[in-house]
Amino acid sequence: MTVALRRSLSLSPARAVRGTLAVPGDKSISHRYVMLGASASGTTIITNLASGADVAATVACMTALGAGVERSADHALSITGRGAGGFIQPDTTLDAENSGTTLRLLSGLVASRPVRVTLTGDESLRRRPMQRVIDPLTAMGARITSAAGRAPLVIEGGALRAIDWRVPVASAQVKSAILFAGLGARGTTVVREPLRTRDHTERAFPAFALRILTEGTVLSVDGGQTPAAPAEMLTVPGDPSSAAVWAALAAALPGSRVQIEGVCLNPLRLGFLAALERMGARIRTEIVTESAGEPIGRLEVSHGDHVAAAIAAEEVPSLIDELPVLAARAALGGTLEVSGASELRVKESDRITALVSGLRAMGVAADERPDGFVIDGRRRPSGGAADAAGDHRLVMAFALVALGATGPSVVTGAESVAVSYPSFEQDLARLIR
Ligand code: S3P
Repeated sequence: MTVALRRSLSLSPARAVRGTLAVPGDKSISHRYVMLGASASGTTIITNLASGADVAATVACMTALGAGVERSADHALSITGRGAGGFIQPDTTLDAENSGTTLRLLSGLVASRPVRVTLTGDESLRRRPMQRVIDPLTAMGARITSAAGRAPLVIEGGALRAIDWRVPVASAQVKSAILFAGLGARGTTVVREPLRTRDHTERAFPAFALRILTEGTVLSVDGGQTPAAPAEMLTVPGDPSSAAVWAALAAALPGSRVQIEGVCLNPLRLGFLAALERMGARIRTEIVTESAGEPIGRLEVSHGDHVAAAIAAEEVPSLIDELPVLAARAALGGTLEVSGASELRVKESDRITALVSGLRAMGVAADERPDGFVIDGRRRPSGGAADAAGDHRLVMAFALVALGATGPSVVTGAESVAVSYPSFEQDLARLIR
């Protein structure tokens, strides 16, 4: 396990942001391509892989399970999968570090294999709920022991049977874990979601020659399928969650305009654009190309005055990871009321408590609700010292508030930004005017 030194980020107010840039490859898609590539017969070549620590953890886990990984260039990876031969018995505990996606998706992937795997993570991940994957996988016949529904999980993989599972929380990680397990189960596995969540697994399956049936919120996958490496190289589109940081900042600071190239324009990830638009931003998107079923294109955002906005439960899965930067946008003018988002409490931090306390420390009028928060940003924040609680999304949200504040600020625990956006500070320096 890596121990990062705590680092602070000092920021002073900025006038505006302007410019064009590309953001790192999408984290969710990268995890899926690496896991499918490691399971496939043949060699998968992936470019623009997410550069953060989360995806590096997935690559390390797949290597321990026997995949052959070579880094051919910056953020390009070739991965030779295990195919029908299956994973090897790893001789170490698999460490997902800070990454919930790694731990949950990997649980589904190894459950049908004749291996005994121990999956763990850092302090934050060991606090997060895993019963939501343990329940369906156990119903399929996997033997899993855990520390009261938390990692470390010990999974004794073996023959699985298909299930028909109604997922109680909207979670693409849980859905994907079941679909991965379903590939190795006897029969047809059905997953029913309460609301549609990001569909990167469903879009990736055909690229790896896997059949899947999607009917709205109901997905079906036949067992006995082994992925095959795509003949074509896979390009990971830019991460909309990272693009959202610049979108929110440009929306907040008068005179700002940013353009982000090569970003994933999958509609199930773009709830933040609709929310920013309601908060006054001017937005344009244009699909330029496509890779393995994912639309890729250009996003342009300029400032607009924000009055009042609300975000409710139905919209939450489409912008769950962007709620901290949307909160930052609201803190710099207007008001925002978020409800139906109690899932925020079980992310890398309790993102309701930690967000509200950091915002308040910077002089923002913010209040917690059990399932969300309320922000009144009609008075410009003073700035101050905010603790990101080891949560990458909060580092970026607090940085935005700092840039729009009247005085200087410090964000502590800023090292965690490397989880999803290691080049965040460099990109910020390029955009500030
Ligand atoms: C993800 C799904 C979401 C999201 C996370 C990535 C994924 O989590 O918040 O950052 O890649 O499937 P949940 O499945 O817990 O909602």
